[in-house]
Parts: sequence; C-alpha cells; structure tokens
Amino acid sequence: MKIGVFDSGVGGLTVARELMRLLPAQPLVYFGDTARTPYGTKSRDTLIRYALEDTRFLLENGADIIVIACHSAASAATDVIREEFRAPVFEVITPSIDEALKAAGPEGTVGLIGTRATVASGVYEAEIGRRAPGVRLMSAACPLLVPLVEEGWLTARETRMIASKYLRPFKGKGLDALVLGCTHYPLIKRIIREKIGGHARIIDPSLEVARAVSDYIHAQDHESAEGSFKNGEKRFFLSDITPATQKIVENFLGGRVHIEKVTPPCTGSS
Ligand code: DGL
Repeated sequence: MKIGVFDSGVGGLTVARELMRLLPAQPLVYFGDTARTPYGTKSRDTLIRYALEDTRFLLENGADIIVIACHSAASAATDVIREEFRAPVFEVITPSIDEALKAAGPEGTVGLIGTRATVASGVYEAEIGRRAPGVRLMSAACPLLVPLVEEGWLTARETRMIASKYLRPFKGKGLDALVLGCTHYPLIKRIIREKIGGHARIIDPSLEVARAVSDYIHAQDHESAEGSFKNGEKRFFLSDITPATQKIVENFLGGRVHIEKVTPPCTGSS
C-alpha cells in the first residue's frame, strides 16, 4: 500500500520519518510544497486549494492512502479532501486529540501550540467541545519557532528564549497535555517540555498519526505490512529546492535522501 504524505515544505518529514520507522516495507511518496511555504500564514481558502492540489499530485503518483502531515492544511482542508477523493485520508489532528483527551480525562486542561492558521481554525475547540465538553483548551500561536527549527537552532539559547516567552502563559495552569500542533515542533520537544514544566504529557502528532496509519495498514493487509524483508521505495518531491534545502531535509529526516524537484507540482496556479 503506497503512502502519500504532503506538507507545506520539509516539516512533514517528521511524519514521514515515523511512518518509515513503523512501516519500512511500505512504499512512500512525499510532497513538500517548498515553493509556496509557509502555509501557516495563509487563509482557509488558499489552504484548501493548495491541499487539493497536493493530494491530487500524490494520487497521480500512485498513493493509495493520503496523510496530511501539515497541521495548517489539515485544520482547513481535511473535510474537503475527504469529500473530493475516495482514498483513505489520515491527518495529524484527530489522533493527537485522541491522546490529549486520554491524558486530560473528562475535566482536564489541554494546551495547543501551532501556526496562526491552525490555532485560528478553531478545529481543536470544536472537536474537543464535541467529545469532551468539560475539557478546557488553551492555545497559542508560536510562529517564530518554525524558522528557528529550519535554521537548525534546535538547542540554541535564542530558541529557548523564544519558546519560553510563547509558553509562559501555560505555566502553572495545570496542563494535562500539550499538543505540538505544527510539524516543526517535535524537533524541539525537549526544550518545550523543559519550558512548560509540570506534568503535562507532550503529544507528538508525528508519532500518533504514524501509529494510526500503521494500525490501518496492518488491519487491511497484515502480510504486506509485516513484509520487512524488503524496504518499499521512497520518493521525496519538493516544489522548490535551494542550496539550504538538503541540509534542512537532513535535520528533519536524520539522514540524507535524494530529493526530486517537481514543477509545477500542482494542477492549478499558485
Ligand atoms: N507545516 C506547517 C504546519 O504544520 C508549518 C510550516 C508552515 O507554516 O508552512 O502547520
């Protein structure tokens, strides 16, 4: 079963990495829309258009299932993608809410950090409100963390300072769980944990969505999912590549990969 993963750029490689770790035998095709990144600053309409185009590209490249690795795209476009295409669609938000609610119980407090688009979308409030009306959600957009991670400043003093400022409002609020609602944040999980203090469970959506996809593939086709004697083909497409890209990709993936440039990746105009 070929897994198609898309993101606004390289951040979704955190998700691809977990998928490759859990499901090495499955072929995987990744598309990162580096020509149009960031998505976290875009409007809902634009995100829907981009997400439809990204999904179409993956399906044209043989994907059997779609994984929306980008939180900003998932928060705006999941329903539209499900309506438009027949392939099963996984996204980073639902499995993270599942885990956050387990940690919070019926009346706990959940924290969310993400891009402006993700936080403003209101999807977490709506879903948590529907499933656990007694749970309180506190959220904060942390846009500066994305460029810091892409710069490779994963342990830098400046990253600690900025994380500390963003996370201060959460301190002492008795958080039961904090959702890392952006592809880039798992790379600075340790700093976030340190700054948030307390006993909050840190929810890493890259792990949660990979687990959900793995459960699905095992249920569908146990034999192929277990066929680890052979590594499935992996292809990584980006819509723009600069000299810095390879290095950023390595930071995210923890190793070198061959990147293919695709122009234009999309059927519509940008
Ligand atoms: N991939 C985006 C997300 O998870 C972060 C980067 C961007 O804004 O494009 O929301």
